[in-house]
Amino acid sequence: MSEHREFEQVTAKAHANIALIKYWGKRDEQLFLPMNSSLSITLDKFYTETSVHFCEDLKADVFIFNKCIANVAETNKVSRYLDHIRKMAGVERYAMVQSINYVPTAAGFASSASGYAALSSAAARAIGLDVDEKKLSQLARIGSGSASRSIFGGFVEWTKGNLDDGSDCYARQIEEESYWDLCILAIQLSDKKKSISSRAGMKHTVETSPFYNIWVKEAEKDLGLLKDALQQKDFERFGHVTESNALKMHATTLGANPPYWYWEAGTISVMNQVRQLRDSGVLAFFTMDAGPNVFVICQQKDKEVVENTLLTLDEIEQIYVCQPGPGVTYLSK
Ligand code: DP6
Repeated sequence: MSEHREFEQVTAKAHANIALIKYWGKRDEQLFLPMNSSLSITLDKFYTETSVHFCEDLKADVFIFNKCIANVAETNKVSRYLDHIRKMAGVERYAMVQSINYVPTAAGFASSASGYAALSSAAARAIGLDVDEKKLSQLARIGSGSASRSIFGGFVEWTKGNLDDGSDCYARQIEEESYWDLCILAIQLSDKKKSISSRAGMKHTVETSPFYNIWVKEAEKDLGLLKDALQQKDFERFGHVTESNALKMHATTLGANPPYWYWEAGTISVMNQVRQLRDSGVLAFFTMDAGPNVFVICQQKDKEVVENTLLTLDEIEQIYVCQPGPGVTYLSK
């Protein structure tokens, strides 16, 4: 059906995001429907660029990642994802996918959000699907839940929805990146161990943690509080809700059976240092995703003092200073 159509190569660029209200737990694993709504800031410094070209002469999908041919497992993952796109478009052609990650993944920063946001955007356009950003966030979601938020820039809410088919579950921008010039310090620790993936961790927690139901209720409450603080630009309240929500998410892992945690010694050192900064009158707040690295949020005026104070800790390898970043852009048509 698609044999004689010409498809052009499309390149999309998508940024990573840090959740302030965490997505933690699925109500549907196939459709990536979350148990709770979440809210994130898109990060300007970390991104993925992905090109997709559906070519007539290919006998299978080819995936080139950071300029190397990807292994079979990674290629199969991309292929399975492209199958959704091909099915929607009614096209049976294989694709050449080339992706470059500007997210320090080896350092423990996640890349699935920017990765699937870039792949879904490039693939949808390359195959000729006419989708708006809402639909695009739903397409990205079925690659990785947090990717639904990376379609947009600035401050982004992903609404959990209630319907079984996921049609009311999507992300949207609530404030542009220029709305509030916050600073997000991504702290890379030196003593990282390989941790349990967010996908496996959240599943295990939903299935075994007695704290899980409380988490779902608290996350919805925190979301309301955070949105209110965001509207008022009340940084102190904004920071306290962010920090408290991260701690509650991590607390669910301690209740799981068997229990587990993502923190390392360096994680705790940074948390303590951030609290000491606050005791000395500098407003800074921490949050952690499913890994030991910490993100510290502060106001631009405090950036130097926060960065310099944290750099005194032995466990810190590097600090990336980020700001709210943009949504998906296309580098060619
Ligand atoms: C702790 O989006 O990586 O970072 O949907 O299974 O791919 P899958 O999970 P993923 O989970 C992210 C979890 C988190 C919190 C968040 O980003 O909201």
